[in-house]
Amino acid sequence: MGVAAKIAPSMLSSDFANLASEAQRMLDCGADWLHMDIMDGHFVPNLTIGAPVIESLRKHTKAYLDCHLMVTNPLDYVEPLGKAGASGFTFHVEVSRDNWGELVQRIKSKGMRPGVSLKPGTPIEEVYPLIEGEYPVEMVLVMTVEPGFGGQKFMPETMDKVRALRKKYPSLDIEVDGGLGPSTIDMAASAGANCIVAGSSVFGAPDSAQVISLMRKSVEEVQKNY
Ligand code: DX5
Ligand code: ZN
Repeated sequence: MGVAAKIAPSMLSSDFANLASEAQRMLDCGADWLHMDIMDGHFVPNLTIGAPVIESLRKHTKAYLDCHLMVTNPLDYVEPLGKAGASGFTFHVEVSRDNWGELVQRIKSKGMRPGVSLKPGTPIEEVYPLIEGEYPVEMVLVMTVEPGFGGQKFMPETMDKVRALRKKYPSLDIEVDGGLGPSTIDMAASAGANCIVAGSSVFGAPDSAQVISLMRKSVEEVQKNY
């Protein structure tokens, strides 16, 4: 048996005015994690939520809050997000080339699980030192669209990076994010991804539970052969 499937609906596609009930609805539909997209309007053109919203949501759920930091200065977010009750803290390698060691240590000291993400144009080799270093990240998030917005088209060419990672690190959590749904999940699962973020395909479906279960089966089918 390989690594466990984690299906993480992206709350960016939810009704933010009803965040707590939307989160509960996803958990009732079988979600493992809730993916929280934190954007600063600088690293990406969009601006979403920050620690105060995570803190509010935490009062309503014990779920794993998988925070994806699309921000220029991730270090500034460690303390507030730790206090707010974030579970995972995934920063972007493009803005952390000089200080990832310190960043990972601080994330862990605040009780969060460190992860690193990379944009479609960033070579996979850039994250190897972060997996093999003294303070390793515990998840790699391979962006399958340009970060910033939900509802974009999945980029199949990013699957080469997932395949390379899975070959090198059989037990690593590998997350994919952007354009995932029933028509693209098999590409991601067969490349080796086990943590699946999906926004529009889950929230836009008449039966969200069915989409979550279909994606889980696709990952499990591949992982059971390891
Ligand atoms: C994009 C975000 C994603 C986004 C995914 O920058 O990181 O998490 O919400 O949305 P879909 O699944 O609609 O592509
Ligand atoms: Zn995301």
